[in-house]
Amino acid sequence: MNAQTEIESLREQLHRLAHAYYVLDAPTVPDSEYDRLFQRLEALENEHPELQSKDSPTQRVGGGLLNAFSQVKHTVPMLSIRTETDTESSGAKSFDARIRKELKLGEADSPIEYVAELKFDGLAMSLRYEDGVLVQAATRGDGETGEDVTHNIRTIYQIPLKLTALPSTSLFDDPLPPVVEVRGEVYMRRDSFEQLNERQRAKIAAGQKGEKTFVNPRNAAAGAVRQLDSKIAADRPLSFFAYSVAQGLPASVTTHSQTLTQLKSWGFPVSSDARVCQGAEALVQFHADMAAKRDSLPFDIDGVVYKVNSLASQAQLGFVSREPRWAVAHKYPAQEQMTTVLAIDVQVGRTGKLTPVAKLAPVFVGGVTVTNATLHNEDEARRKDVRVGDTVIVRRAGDVIPEVVSVVLEKRMQGAQIFSIPTHCPVCGSVAVREPGETDTRCTGGLICGAQRKQAIEHFAHKRAVYIDGLGEKLIEQMVDAGIIKSLPDLYKLGLANIVALERMAEKSALNVIAAIEKSKHTTLPRFLFGLGIRHVGESTAKAFAKHFGNIDTIMDAGLEHLQNVPDVGPVVAKSLRDFFDAPYNREVVEQLRACGLTWEEGAGTPIAPQLLVGKTFVLTGTLPTLGRDEAKEMIEAAGGKVTGSVSKKTDYVVAGTEAGSKLDKARELGVAVLDEDGLRGLCIP
Ligand code: IVH
Repeated sequence: MNAQTEIESLREQLHRLAHAYYVLDAPTVPDSEYDRLFQRLEALENEHPELQSKDSPTQRVGGGLLNAFSQVKHTVPMLSIRTETDTESSGAKSFDARIRKELKLGEADSPIEYVAELKFDGLAMSLRYEDGVLVQAATRGDGETGEDVTHNIRTIYQIPLKLTALPSTSLFDDPLPPVVEVRGEVYMRRDSFEQLNERQRAKIAAGQKGEKTFVNPRNAAAGAVRQLDSKIAADRPLSFFAYSVAQGLPASVTTHSQTLTQLKSWGFPVSSDARVCQGAEALVQFHADMAAKRDSLPFDIDGVVYKVNSLASQAQLGFVSREPRWAVAHKYPAQEQMTTVLAIDVQVGRTGKLTPVAKLAPVFVGGVTVTNATLHNEDEARRKDVRVGDTVIVRRAGDVIPEVVSVVLEKRMQGAQIFSIPTHCPVCGSVAVREPGETDTRCTGGLICGAQRKQAIEHFAHKRAVYIDGLGEKLIEQMVDAGIIKSLPDLYKLGLANIVALERMAEKSALNVIAAIEKSKHTTLPRFLFGLGIRHVGESTAKAFAKHFGNIDTIMDAGLEHLQNVPDVGPVVAKSLRDFFDAPYNREVVEQLRACGLTWEEGAGTPIAPQLLVGKTFVLTGTLPTLGRDEAKEMIEAAGGKVTGSVSKKTDYVVAGTEAGSKLDKARELGVAVLDEDGLRGLCIP
């Protein structure tokens, strides 16, 4: 094969593979195969510069640096679409009524056929192909004259550098017209936009001058298209949807839907959400369907577009100034707006979680007036770096809670203070902590924090805790709101009159509640401990603590190491319990509850073995004469030691019984001390 034939064959293959990958989203070969062919083509083109060609897949980037954009006069003007301002479904009906009137159709006439499409939120682009090769890409400009941005548009892989007639989707076998002008929308996918902004933030953080983040995907796409350096444009991943043919439509194409099919067969991406609709009801349905789908699309749309399908009817309807009478844009409410941050409040949730919330100047977005937007947690607030006084972009999509998308940094006032999460709870003043590995900061004032009151009481009264029958969420809410309960001990000070005074509370039910509260005074230590709602102390952990220590005073005073001797208690749980009882107000609550008459059986707990083996690691192997494996393990752990599965240099002792195997050999090899059962007992018990 000579070089020219091989080059042509490679280009043809690469065109097809790129189309499958970028347009159809259905790659036919692994990436490595594409790369191999691409590199082969590059090598051949370098060897034979005379065979280089503008439509080669190797020629997407590298148009060089421009000084300015040149002007392009559009051979066919680029129109705009009339906007139906009514965001309700009636917008579709009034469009249909207008078209029927203009086409002089009566009620008896059949419904009009339309194509309904998405209104992509990007920028319009006109692509000119001569003899099937992309020669020019121009922005809309004022509709008459735009700018030549060919060098940047060539970097968009979804845009064919060369038109192909793809037999699989081709409707007609018209020859390729000498000039084809395709119109469509250049846009940026939401994920690409996020990644781009992430990269931009990194550049800003690294101190690179002149870099900024983008407000939304449309803004980012427009910035990329207007780059003088195509290398920068190539770094900002753009996409494309074709939606019309301004020149070179084959004569056999008579409808807009056929136009879309033709565009596909030339190799353009066409949105799969375009739908042929008969009459107004079908348009209304499309509008509703796409509204529901809007948030799950990978790109932004700001509405839908309805177009009369028949090209003959389109011609009959004509234009008013720059707007065709046969099409209308039916918008959805905007999902993003700009506003300013008046303050950043920190709210404390029922579970003690601290959430920073931006208080906003009221703004109408996504169909409602928004005055608050959550900043979620410390990391999110830092990442977005929202400061009081900032101008921000607020997004409310669907029913999702409003959020701050980004800060418009150019508008930041000098001296704006960086937000930091408070060190103390804004409700009760207790210390707020963020545990390692967690994103949330929490108030530690569990039992005294006003924000956590309802949750704390609900937990205490739960069936599995101290159990106050009939005292559920609703009643607790009423009691707290009425101010008759502020903390747990208040429960035991309630009188009948307090309860009867609550709304919808009959005397009989009130008496039942009083009786249930009285009954709850006789409880058990595990229930009481669990009922205190100590973070990480669930029901079984509470049981384990109760069994091990036997009484509440020992638990309240136990040191961290001591707490960790309890089976299955690790450093996180131990620290949580320690922190809880280190807070004087929590101890105070325990004292008050006892003073109110809460009782439970207490004991001495499991005798505490002397902690002789702290820091020592053991491996058990073989069968010991009297101790079972679990018993031996318990004995070691009770004395503060650790048992692991395999012998290493870090092992301190191997305890070997009969039929000890490879572990014993390994111990000898490494010189690790070997004990029998008696030796072990001797170590644990002085
Ligand atoms: S058709 C017949 N179809 O909306 C008029 N335009 O004002 C020619 N747009 O900036 C446009 N999605 O880029 C048409 N599916 C769609 C569209 C669409 C977005 C944009 C277009 C232009 C504006 C029209």
